Amino acid sequence: MVLNYWLELIRLGKPFRVLRRTPRQRLWTWLPNLLETLVTKFDERIFIHQSSYVDPGAKLGVHTSIWHFVHVEGGAIVGENCNIGQNCYIGNNAVVGNACRLGNSVAIFSHVELGDFVFCAPYMVFTHIDFPRAAVSRREVFVKTLVGTGSTLGANCTVVPGIEIGTGTFVAAGATLTGSTADWSLMIGTPARHVGWVSAYGERIALPLTGQGSWTCPHTGDTYVLEDKSLRRIAGPDDLLSYKPGAKLERRVAV
Ligand SMILES: CC(C)(COP(=O)(O)OP(=O)(O)OC[C@H]1O[C@@H](n2cnc3c(N)ncnc32)[C@H](O)[C@@H]1OP(=O)(O)O)[C@@H](O)C(=O)NCCC(=O)NCCS
Repeated sequence: MVLNYWLELIRLGKPFRVLRRTPRQRLWTWLPNLLETLVTKFDERIFIHQSSYVDPGAKLGVHTSIWHFVHVEGGAIVGENCNIGQNCYIGNNAVVGNACRLGNSVAIFSHVELGDFVFCAPYMVFTHIDFPRAAVSRREVFVKTLVGTGSTLGANCTVVPGIEIGTGTFVAAGATLTGSTADWSLMIGTPARHVGWVSAYGERIALPLTGQGSWTCPHTGDTYVLEDKSLRRIAGPDDLLSYKPGAKLERRVAV
């Protein structure tokens, strides 16, 4: 299987495309990439389905699973305990944090960065060029998109380039996110509007959009404090969003 992988890469010219540099530069790029790829390939804590391509140089964390027909490019970084669904693409300079879940057919393009515990539902779309034109290359001016820890991007939603998605934001299915969001906000519609708040556990928070108040999650003991227009989470004893590096993640089962 490993041999097939390399033969296929050679057939596609991939190792050589990366390496159009001086012989010495080639060696310094190719050797560590090759070693890392082999380590990843043989690390039993990482699952890569045989139909998927993980290009040399890509970094995958332990306990991550890459399912069918996925392509991870050489400069991509994928954290630990991630689940990458069928038909996903993760580009150069894309970063996927720890414990993220990508549903089927999600593309994390270059310059998109996900924090930990980000859920990208099937067929949601990131973008990284504001005004694309087929006749003009804008590869050098990709715009960065940052997705905060614990966010959920609902099925079939679209995120325009260059925005910052706050911690724990919940974007509804089919929404179009056109601006940065407040932490724990529920964003619905096209263009998406801030209509409420959602907890880290995944339930509506009974607080208004503005004012003062607090609410405690019955599942986790987290307390959410509303101060004017912003909501702050004080993690309870059972913090769902605290990540323990290296350990296999046991996800909480909803009741
Ligand atoms: C937003 C969401 C969580 C529903 O939240 P909710 O608090 O239960 O909302 P309700 O069903 O009570 O609806 C409240 C209002 O929002 C509207 N609404 C709900 N979801 C909506 C959506 N995705 N887009 C547009 N409007 C929506 C409802 O029609 C309703 O409008 P009304 O007040 O005019 O009748 C849900 O619709 C959603 O999008 N979940 C994400 C699903 C997903 O992507 N899963 C992926 C993994 S499979």
